[in-house]
Amino acid sequence: MNQDQLKRRVAAAALEHVQHDEILGVGTGSTVNALIDLLHENRIPLQACVSSSEATTARLQGYGYEVVDLNSSGPLELYIDGADECDPHRRLIKGGGGALTREKIIAAASRQFICIVDDTKQVDILGRFPLPVEVIPMARSQVARQLVELGGEPVWREGFVTDNGNWILDVHRLSIVDPVGMEQQINGMVGVVTVGLFAERSADRVLVGSTSGVSEY
Ligand code: 5RP
Repeated sequence: MNQDQLKRRVAAAALEHVQHDEILGVGTGSTVNALIDLLHENRIPLQACVSSSEATTARLQGYGYEVVDLNSSGPLELYIDGADECDPHRRLIKGGGGALTREKIIAAASRQFICIVDDTKQVDILGRFPLPVEVIPMARSQVARQLVELGGEPVWREGFVTDNGNWILDVHRLSIVDPVGMEQQINGMVGVVTVGLFAERSADRVLVGSTSGVSEY
């Protein structure tokens, strides 16, 4: 089974948690794209979706799903999203697709956050995947210098602009032994919009797709 097949397998398992006619929070990325395809293929009726990116919105609307603003939906029962890394405590690195800020907002507004990954994303200590940090463009160098002081190697994702009009620094070589502390520290830097560490608000459930099936923790 290749990685795309594992993504579809774990997405199919997540489908079982979706209630008909609810307003569903929908994340971003290829694993979530598999979920959206399966929602459509299985004709799952939804009242509407709250989307974490323009790309997700376009895919949902292409299948005829209504996408509403979080301001009008209010708090959500369920948010489903992928991740770039997850640790045994369900803490995550997200933002490989650059949608981390909207993803974090929807996660904060949701009673339940189910994260769907294939088993290549599991790590004991977060940080092998470069940590995305969304910054206000004029603060890029200023924030990068502070990230170097933390021991990281920030690399500007040149040419990429987030849906919010900002830039991304991908921070390499961090060994994140205190994810909550690091999340607070980086979020506290002036000019940082969001760091892609989901530790304070971790996932409530992680579904992991592997060749032997789907496990959950
Ligand atoms: C986007 C994300 C994605 O969830 C993450 O990058 C995983 O993507 P994929 O499912 O394509 O592996 O955080 O900002």
